Amino acid sequence: EEDKSFEGAADTDFAEDERRKEAAQAFEGVRRDLGKTYLPLINGEYVKTQDVIDSVNPSNYSQVIGKVGLISVEQAEQAMQAAKAAFPGWKKTPVKQRADILRKAGDLLEERRAELSALIVLEVGKPVKEADAEVSEAIDFCRYYADEMERLYQGVNYDVPGETNRYIYQPRGIAVVISPWNFPLAIACGMTVAALVAGNCTLLKPAETSSIITAKLTEILIEAGIPKGVFQYVPGKGSQVGAYLVSHPDTHVIAFTGSQEVGCRIYSEAATLKPMQRHMKRVIAEMGGKNAIIVDESADLDQAVVGVVQSAFGYSGQKCSACSRVIVVESIYDTFVARLVEATKSLNIGEAELPSTQVGPVIDANARDRIREYIEKGKAEAKLALELPSPAQGYFIGPVIFSEVPPDGIIAQQEIFGPVLAVIKVRDFAEALQVANGTNYALTGGLYSRTPSHIQQAQEEFEVGNLYINRNITGAIVARQPFGGFKLSGVGSKAGGPDYLLQFLEPRTITENI
Ligand code: NAD
Ligand code: ALA
Repeated sequence: EEDKSFEGAADTDFAEDERRKEAAQAFEGVRRDLGKTYLPLINGEYVKTQDVIDSVNPSNYSQVIGKVGLISVEQAEQAMQAAKAAFPGWKKTPVKQRADILRKAGDLLEERRAELSALIVLEVGKPVKEADAEVSEAIDFCRYYADEMERLYQGVNYDVPGETNRYIYQPRGIAVVISPWNFPLAIACGMTVAALVAGNCTLLKPAETSSIITAKLTEILIEAGIPKGVFQYVPGKGSQVGAYLVSHPDTHVIAFTGSQEVGCRIYSEAATLKPMQRHMKRVIAEMGGKNAIIVDESADLDQAVVGVVQSAFGYSGQKCSACSRVIVVESIYDTFVARLVEATKSLNIGEAELPSTQVGPVIDANARDRIREYIEKGKAEAKLALELPSPAQGYFIGPVIFSEVPPDGIIAQQEIFGPVLAVIKVRDFAEALQVANGTNYALTGGLYSRTPSHIQQAQEEFEVGNLYINRNITGAIVARQPFGGFKLSGVGSKAGGPDYLLQFLEPRTITENI
């Protein structure tokens, strides 16, 4: 029987000399281009802008990675008009052709893997291995959604004698994609190519701090054959250009990934009918998390400590999937905390591009200051178990662990989005589950346990979109761990899963009496 399982792109094996050489050359290449200007793409042309911002290296903010032209509201309107004009042609383009453009984009991403990961490392301060895995995820989104669109295009046939009944999908129209900086390539690429392969003309508005990586994605989509007007790269201010595109009467789908605050605003704004608008908008909003790992008395503590450290401090805790609460039963609490603190002390903190770095910087000065404020709040409500020092020249924050954190405390309830971990003590597993579920979020969660009844109960009662048992809780893989949350973590179905493309499509039933 034919194997239909999806095979993801392999990450780089940095144990091989050749791969390390390629990575070093890629960094040199990116450094040669430092300071270049990247412009928006509207109707197939790169256009000049009045506003230009610097995108800097968070590991060393005196280094300008490049300059980015930010569009005005007038230019956003031009992009919308170009998208509208391109839509009839793109809607009629055969699905196979659209899917092949994604496959070509996947191949180009793979060819440029080393360059793209070097740029991710330098523009958003993500350590090398994690940047490389992000490129794999972007490649997988292209290839998986290409296959998925071909599957859905088959439709469903409900014929009966004397009557054909065909269930088919058509594109919705214009999609606005609004992406975050923390997975600057994978998430921007995933939302964009999903919208495109479904036949929608798509405008990509990246986060201001990661606009250069999306400029490279733009080059790749053009080279892969996306026609003019069908895809447009519209970097700009979220509160201005982003808000304008969300409320535009010609927008049909908004695919947003980012904070809960902005996601909720977009959801309500999109629900308001505008003059001349003849449809309701579909909103996909992937938002934050306050993810917990439960460690019970039967857990393998070697495994649990490693998994919690990776989940909490990988990319400095700046993943929506990151562990920010660890809930530990009292019988093993002291042992666990002591071992967690020791393991965290051994992490290498430094510039993201150094191969030895495990914890790099945070994204910018605002994030650094906001995280510092949370650390002060933590000191007022819990016990400081560890605060590691951090390098001076970039936006660094050394990992911080608080113990004895009250489950309803500020640092146990609000998403900090930094390397700050709250350890919470509970009497038993039942209380652990209750505390784990006691936030507004439901994104990822984990359990370390060797007790089958606890594992079973967690599967049924732990309210998260992605539950991981006896492993770390980040790094979901396309078509293996479809990813996304519920409650105030998001609305929409899971990225990298079998329902995702449906959100960009309008189903229709055609009945013919024969
Ligand atoms: P953010 O909400 O600040 O910004 C996200 C995007 O929204 C940016 O492009 C921004 O310019 C734009 N934006 C801001 N205000 C807007 C407005 N009024 N109208 C339209 N667009 C607007 O988030 P961020 O700091 O870039 O990303 C971090 C957040 O993203 C965290 O909360 C994290 O948990 C979340 N996140 C969630 C997932 C997921 O899959 N659930 C994945 C990654 C990140
Ligand atoms: N999909 C990303 C992860 O699982 C956010 O870590």
